[in-house]
Amino acid sequence: MNILLVSAELAPFAKVGGLADISSALPIGWSRLGHHPIIVLPKYRGIEERYTITKTDITIQCTVFDTEHSFPVWKSTLPGEHIPVYFIEADDLYDRPGIYGNPDGYEDNDERFYIVCKCAFELMIKLNVKVDIISAHDYHTALLLPLLHETYSIHPLFAKSKGVLTIHNAQYQGWYDLQRVMDMTKWQQESYMWKGGFNALKTGIDHADLIIAVSPSYAQEILTKEFGEGLESVYSQYSHKLIGILNGVDYAFWSPEHDMHINHHFSIDDLSNKLMGKNQVIDEYFPTSTIEKSLPLLGIVSRFTDQKGFDLLHGVIEEYIQEEKCRLIVLGSGDETYQSFFRDLQSHFPKLISYSQGYDESLAHHILAYSDFFLLPSRFEPCGLTQLYALRYGTIPIVRSIGGLKDSVQAYDFNSQQGDGIIFQDFTHEALKTALMNAFSLYEQTHHLHCIRHNAMLADFSIENTAKEYINQFTQLLQ
Ligand code: ADP
Ligand code: GLC
Repeated sequence: MNILLVSAELAPFAKVGGLADISSALPIGWSRLGHHPIIVLPKYRGIEERYTITKTDITIQCTVFDTEHSFPVWKSTLPGEHIPVYFIEADDLYDRPGIYGNPDGYEDNDERFYIVCKCAFELMIKLNVKVDIISAHDYHTALLLPLLHETYSIHPLFAKSKGVLTIHNAQYQGWYDLQRVMDMTKWQQESYMWKGGFNALKTGIDHADLIIAVSPSYAQEILTKEFGEGLESVYSQYSHKLIGILNGVDYAFWSPEHDMHINHHFSIDDLSNKLMGKNQVIDEYFPTSTIEKSLPLLGIVSRFTDQKGFDLLHGVIEEYIQEEKCRLIVLGSGDETYQSFFRDLQSHFPKLISYSQGYDESLAHHILAYSDFFLLPSRFEPCGLTQLYALRYGTIPIVRSIGGLKDSVQAYDFNSQQGDGIIFQDFTHEALKTALMNAFSLYEQTHHLHCIRHNAMLADFSIENTAKEYINQFTQLLQ
């Protein structure tokens, strides 16, 4: 089948978080199953300089706010694959410092994301591609679905198309000014009004033939007030078309055998290079420390938002560091509260805490591959990819039992020697403290450490399985 995927992020071209990883992993999975994905992305700043992309002879004419615009189209493929990626050029909209304009978002995000959606349809017409599935991702490209309904479903290329909305994060919804959206799109106001405004995610949900949350647990959680972010009644109304499919991993990119960012490769049969890698990381990131390298190394790689739950560390990590129970290496950026928290920690405990602020793909791989434990104490977590990556490298996840974390990490049981992670339930400092204590105690028990690592590395979250589940759903929709 032909699957049109439009996303705000796509690895490696434009990445902020997991949306980028899965937006490229899914098409790779679909393509391995014999399907034909086509990807459309805004041509953000820096892509042309960092990747090989070429200008096509296609230009899309599109009317927005009563004005006709021309958008040149560029093309590339996903690295190492034959999957086409088209980039929509609109420098006044996309040639900016960031993808979203954090922290508050660019004022014209409604227009920026609407245009990429509209251009995606127009591009399919230019290329004469009959689209079976339109795959929209989060609020940014949710507008594909009302566009299909309002404008394109009468076109022969889309007459049988089905629209699928994948929800990666229900917290971000795209609240836009209703009148502005109506002026921009020429849709009829009444049916789009939601709580006095326009909610892009809600509009996508209304028009989707199928809604996929990125884990089965999250699909249940968003039905509740605690996690529905104000849209719980909407999810409940459409629960018949809401399912959960756990994200997957492209192990060609994220595995101790093939990872192109690390140099000490290893496998389940021989972890000696994992230790070499750990020692290398310690030498590099704790250069002045004389404290023994054998302490457990705890890793964090994350966007910093309230979602990720790092406030739980406050008071807990200091105590363990003072007792010299572990080393902590942190990579991340985002909310200033968390950035300054980690900066302060590092300046108090430079021998045992290293904090790198910013985005660093290579360091992320090093931390995931070479740490002993990986920490993710999320308040909520739709899926979470880093714990899936960590598992593959035998880096034991310490996670809260929520959303996709609950669906992907199994608590280690000392009796049966089954399980691959350390899990805690309550969002409390006390619960995290106990989880860390359990982790440090397990680390001392060589046999159990071996078992849990072994189990972790055998866990299989390959993208092929996820892609198959998507395709099964698509097939049912098209019948
Ligand atoms: P989320 O999408 O909520 O941020 P995920 O676990 O799904 O969480 O995905 C996060 C992705 O972003 C992973 O690939 C992770 O390695 C990457 N990542 C997060 N922060 C950074 C950073 N500061 N530098 C490099 N990669 C990062
Ligand atoms: C979101 C979620 C994360 C998920 C990712 C990819 O950013 O926060 O849990 O793994 O999308 O689906």
